[in-house]
Amino acid sequence: MAFDYSAASEFEERWRGYWALGRPRGVRDLARWVYQLADRRLLHSDELEYIDRPELGDRLRVEVIALVDWTSRALAIGRHAARWLRPLCREVHRRTRRPVRILDVGCGRGGITLDAARALERWGEVPVVVSGLDYNPRYLELAREEARRRGQPEVRFLEGNAFDLAHDAGAFDLLITNWMIHHLTPVQVFRMLQEFDRVAAHGMMLLDVSRSFLTAAGGLLVTALLSEPRRHDSMLTLRKGYRRAELELILAAAGIDYVEPIRLPLGLPPIGACLLAGVKPIS
Ligand SMILES: C[S@@+](CC[C@H](N)C(=O)[O-])C[C@H]1O[C@@H](n2cnc3c(N)ncnc32)[C@H](O)[C@@H]1O
Repeated sequence: MAFDYSAASEFEERWRGYWALGRPRGVRDLARWVYQLADRRLLHSDELEYIDRPELGDRLRVEVIALVDWTSRALAIGRHAARWLRPLCREVHRRTRRPVRILDVGCGRGGITLDAARALERWGEVPVVVSGLDYNPRYLELAREEARRRGQPEVRFLEGNAFDLAHDAGAFDLLITNWMIHHLTPVQVFRMLQEFDRVAAHGMMLLDVSRSFLTAAGGLLVTALLSEPRRHDSMLTLRKGYRRAELELILAAAGIDYVEPIRLPLGLPPIGACLLAGVKPIS
């Protein structure tokens, strides 16, 4: 599908409007304005993570991705992702009566992809076929090795670019992505979500860090224990994460209205994370 550049430039303009601070409208608006000013000037960063700089070579990027993988395993993100995916899988299976095809975009070394696949398979509610996709062939080699080591050769790892997926419309049922969106500029997120909407026959789930002063303060403490280059990229991750409202704005601009925030048990929002998911309405 040719990418619609006019839609992207329309979106860019909308984003600039959202990002511009303007002037506070009265005293009541002042607190919000001061918060946004501090966010834009002190917290948010456009700097590239080392992991996003191919010129730095794979050795350094492999070191960083190892920490990402270790952290997501330590936090059992793959298992949590599987739990949040369950209702979506049930709904898709109810509609199609065949194994649910899931693609994890920006899968890195594949830890979350493999954990989620195993959890869904063990729960055995509905049959699933899980694949991962990344644009870094070195990570994919590591992911395939890991799949072999864990005895999950059925999980396939594919090379591809999230902005321009080489798959037909509806080639997968659900597209998911973990800890990847913060690597992208707003217009790249817009483009990627349009691709997700095209390639996913039924829906998507988006999970990433959410930017806040609280998580950044926590991050300062925790990352003090890390050496470079991990410290650099971990801190930047917390400063680059999109807020939920920002992702909602991009989803709306991309014309995706079925993806909504997921609440945790007791109706709590996830702390420090953006978690949104949904299935397309039946047409
Ligand atoms: C922080 S890692 C997250 C890896 C994995 N999802 C996890 O949570 O452990 C972000 C991943 O997104 C991949 N990535 C970034 N931009 C991409 C793009 N345009 N297309 C495909 N993969 C991309 C990177 O190569 C990297 O593996």
